This record gives sequence, C-alpha cells and structure tokens, in this order.
Amino acid sequence: MTQLNITHVVVISLTAVFLLVALDRAGGLRGPQPTYTPPAAPTAPVAQVDPDKGKPPPHNDTVEDMPDGKGREVTFYACTACHGVALIKAQGLTRDLWDSTFDLMLERHKMAPVKPEERAEILDYLAEQFPPRRRGRGGDNPFLK
Ligand code: HEC
Repeated sequence: MTQLNITHVVVISLTAVFLLVALDRAGGLRGPQPTYTPPAAPTAPVAQVDPDKGKPPPHNDTVEDMPDGKGREVTFYACTACHGVALIKAQGLTRDLWDSTFDLMLERHKMAPVKPEERAEILDYLAEQFPPRRRGRGGDNPFLK
C-alpha cells in the first residue's frame, strides 16, 4: 500500500484549501444571498429650473397700494413679482426713463417679458402716476436731466 508521506499531505491539503477558496469566491458555498434593493427613489419633484417659481412675492402689497388709474392692474401684476410698490413709488421718471427702467428689469433682473400692448399700458401708467418731481425753487431736479 502506498505510503502517504508529508509531501502528499501538504499538497492534498493545499489543493483542498485552494478548491474551497475558489468555490467560496464563486459563491458555491453560500446560500442564496439577500438581493440588493436600491433605496427608494426620492418622491419629491426634481429641483425646478426657477427656484423662485411659485414663491409669493416678498411683500404684502395689493393693487390698492398703487394710485388708481388706467393700467394700474397690469402694472401691479407685472411689476410687483420681485419687489413692493414702494420701490416704484419712490421713483419719479419721464416715460422714456420708465422705458429704460423697464428694460433694466427685463435684462438685469430677468423679469418675464410682457406683451407690447401691455408694456405700453404700463409705461403710460407709470409716466402718468410717477412723473419726475419738481423740487426746490421751481427748478427741475438736475439729476433727472
Ligand atoms: C423679475 C423681478 C423684477 C420685476 C418683475 C420687476 N423688477 Fe424692478 N427691480 C428688481 C430688482 C431685483 C431690483 C433691485 C432693487 C432691489 O430690489 O433692491 C429692482 C428695482 C427697481 C426699481 C428701483 C431702481 C432704482 O434705481 O432705485 C424700480 C423703480 C423698479 N424696480 C421698477 C420696476 C417696474 C416699474 C417694474 C415693472 C415694469 C419692475 N420693477 C419689475 C426686480 C424686478
């Protein structure tokens, strides 16, 4: 009968260990593994393009806070999305300068564009209600020239 010497024992043991490791790596020694469940997708809507969209304006002004006149409504809704009426009332400008202010709101502050006929109505209203103020002894305000 063949004798098992130490070399055989070592080789057989190593082979057995190697096979066990290989089997284990392949998953053959493990039972069914719990399947990975990805965390539930967030239910909140994806961030909106405009984070300010739907936010109430930063003031409590109403249409009545503006002087009555033709175009008051359209002006109020177009011009008070971002600031109160006080900012507008504080200005006294010619129609041309209100026109430039309008452009400023559109270009610098990303105001939503309005229809041309609405713009004309708003400018009429602003020029009518908030004209340049005469200050001092009858002279025009030099800063408005
Ligand atoms: C999209 C936002 C937005 C809209 C809509 C808007 N504005 Fe403004 N406006 C601003 C911001 C921002 C300022 C900067 C001043 C501040 O709020 O501190 C400003 C400032 C002003 C000022 C003060 C400028 C100064 O030099 O003191 C006036 C006057 C004004 N707006 C008028 C208007 C009028 C009139 C309209 C409507 C035609 C309008 N705004 C619509 C954002 C807006």
